[in-house]
Amino acid sequence: MIPSQRHLFDIPDEITYFNCAYMGPLLKTARAAGHMGIDRKSTPWTVAPEDFFTESERARSLFASLIGSAADDIALIPSASYGLAIAAKNIPLEKGQKILLLEDQFPSNVYCWQQRANECAAEIKTVPTPADYDWTSAVLNAIDETVAVAALPHNHWTDGALLDLVAIGEKLRAQGAKLVLDVTQSLGAMPLALPRVKPDFLIAAAYKWLLGPYSVGFMYVAPEHHGGEPLEYNWLNRKGSEDFAGLVDYVDDYQPGAQRFDMGERANFALMPVAVAALEQILDWGVANIQETLSEKTRDIAARCEGLGLTSLSDDKRAGHFLGLRRKGGLPGNLLERLRADNILVSVRGSSMRITPHLFNNETDSDRLLAALEKIL
Ligand SMILES: Cc1ncc(COP(=O)(O)O)c(C=O)c1O
Repeated sequence: MIPSQRHLFDIPDEITYFNCAYMGPLLKTARAAGHMGIDRKSTPWTVAPEDFFTESERARSLFASLIGSAADDIALIPSASYGLAIAAKNIPLEKGQKILLLEDQFPSNVYCWQQRANECAAEIKTVPTPADYDWTSAVLNAIDETVAVAALPHNHWTDGALLDLVAIGEKLRAQGAKLVLDVTQSLGAMPLALPRVKPDFLIAAAYKWLLGPYSVGFMYVAPEHHGGEPLEYNWLNRKGSEDFAGLVDYVDDYQPGAQRFDMGERANFALMPVAVAALEQILDWGVANIQETLSEKTRDIAARCEGLGLTSLSDDKRAGHFLGLRRKGGLPGNLLERLRADNILVSVRGSSMRITPHLFNNETDSDRLLAALEKIL
């Protein structure tokens, strides 16, 4: 269990922020790193050609450490949708084959598949929300020989409902199907066993559970896809781009591994240092420790909410960092506004109120949330 880390964030005492699934706050160290990055751009004569590589390579290798891959398996991307578009473009699909998605999945992991399905006359197969929220069984039952790829999260973004990606990955592989993961709502807060899940592509935007900046993300690409087609054709990810004088000696080859998929202007001088500072801190805390600590917080809140008629998924069916609360008859329409009036920030997605804490949340936050909900419900 990690004690409160509120001192590392700039969150006023009167603010109760349970909304990491919406946007994670920056650490003070990350904010300072961002200020330094902005300052450097005001003095371009201090930016050396090697600076186009150092910070982005550091971010790449820190992310690789986080998921336990090689740095060369990681591409630097600006958003989840960018990475998912690369995955969709590179998964072989034939007429009539199926792309497996979850009902109410986040749109960045739907639109790219709709587009791809249109291009190759493939079909989207949407797994309906199971009555018992057992997504793992529902997905396993939906995988058959017609499924060419499943594009899934580790937990549902509306209520934290968990998927067993090891079991799902195994069944997909047995059918010769591919696995694409959007782990924006879990990576950094919940461990993922990469060598057992064996995804083809794994994508995460950095601005939620990676406590990173907006407009930065990361993508793991399994080695078998390293020869794939990027989304854009920029100079930095071509072989030998370190030699600025030789850039017009155009080359066909790319930098090694997944670097061919890097976004243009990956050497983002303002934002890469922010991502680096955040990843360093997350690695220092340890993702398993973060998950254990946040699980304890959400378990406590879930138990206290029961008396108010708010129900949640059992511990084995939801991610520990992610609590979705539902109420028979629905949640009051003005719930968010009333909580906000008391400086309590959560979100509502579908029928579920999302309580998504991080290490800055303390017992006072939980007490305030409970007191406010008692008043409202
Ligand atoms: C599951 C999931 N994926 C991705 C995103 C962000 O997508 P993008 O980076 O394409 O804006 C969100 C944002 O809420 C999300 O919940």
